[in-house]
Amino acid sequence: MAIATAHAKVILAGEHAVVYGQPAVAMPVCTLSCEVGIVDSPDGLTSFVADAYPGRFLAGAHEEHPLSFLEELLGWLFRDELPRWGVELAGPPPLSISVRSEIPIGAGMGSSAAILVAATRSLFAHYGITPPTSEIQRLAHAAEMGVHGRSSGLDVAAAVHSAPVLFTTGDPATALAIGAPFDLLIARSGVQSLTRKVVLDVLERRKREPAVIDGLFGQMGDIARRLAEAISQGELSAMGRLMNRNQELLTDLGVSCPDLDRLVAAAQEAGALGAKLTGAGRGGCMVALAEPVLVGSIRQALLEAGAVEVHVYHVDPGAVAEDVDLKLAMRGGGRSGQPRSPRIE
Ligand code: PMV
Repeated sequence: MAIATAHAKVILAGEHAVVYGQPAVAMPVCTLSCEVGIVDSPDGLTSFVADAYPGRFLAGAHEEHPLSFLEELLGWLFRDELPRWGVELAGPPPLSISVRSEIPIGAGMGSSAAILVAATRSLFAHYGITPPTSEIQRLAHAAEMGVHGRSSGLDVAAAVHSAPVLFTTGDPATALAIGAPFDLLIARSGVQSLTRKVVLDVLERRKREPAVIDGLFGQMGDIARRLAEAISQGELSAMGRLMNRNQELLTDLGVSCPDLDRLVAAAQEAGALGAKLTGAGRGGCMVALAEPVLVGSIRQALLEAGAVEVHVYHVDPGAVAEDVDLKLAMRGGGRSGQPRSPRIE
């Protein structure tokens, strides 16, 4: 079986603005990951299973299922991309695809991007191919455009790095040095958020008020650049102030919500250096920056303010500032046998 993993992320500055060409800063969360395994199908049918959903979903059943986006990804890779790597098949062979994930769905933590990255890597590994990370990033980003309609590529960039990244669409991400250790508390509001819908709402608002919205985006981009500098210099107080300011701008943009506002306020009152929503907003998660000594009390304050889950992530200067190897593993030698009848269109 070919297995590949990828991890979650939080956005520390610049979400939404990044869709319109501004830079953003994302922090990979390597302690929350997903794993995609691919093996030749024992029964001649291509199927998908995931720990998040009961049952087994068959490809080509002409019905939408929760893993349809993976079915589309694999179909596209077989048709357009694998032949460029010398994998010429009469049609996609039957495969069993399994997904295990610790990343909350619809919570602004990059769950779908991580699954797309892991699935792409896993499929190539099934054929004994290890494309460069930049190629995995390109393919997973193209697939994510299909999932979210419009996507900056920030989530995918974070899913293939282990260090924080400064990212602008179209440029390779810059991995940032970490000047001093810090802790992030990532609290889940419990409100599910649909990235696609929030991104569309922002698009509509920008059509109505272009000058106002572009003004907000310009300020967010500036914050992202300054935050990248502060992370590299280990200036925790500056990082916190920039996150707080970014939250004010996101509120002006209209993508916060009462649950997130309550969690942000609770973290700030409990001594967080900074706090903001992360991802598309209107639900999902918020992130707080803390000095290690205050992590326990901030965590408690978040739970009392209604967080359904709080994940603490310790960020250390020892974190590698280079592409992570995604712990690609091959078990049992990958592909076996000849291609059989196509099951993925
Ligand atoms: O909600 P998430 O984790 O998918 O993050 C979306 C980030 C946005 O900037 C709102 C969209 C994008 O494509 O970057």
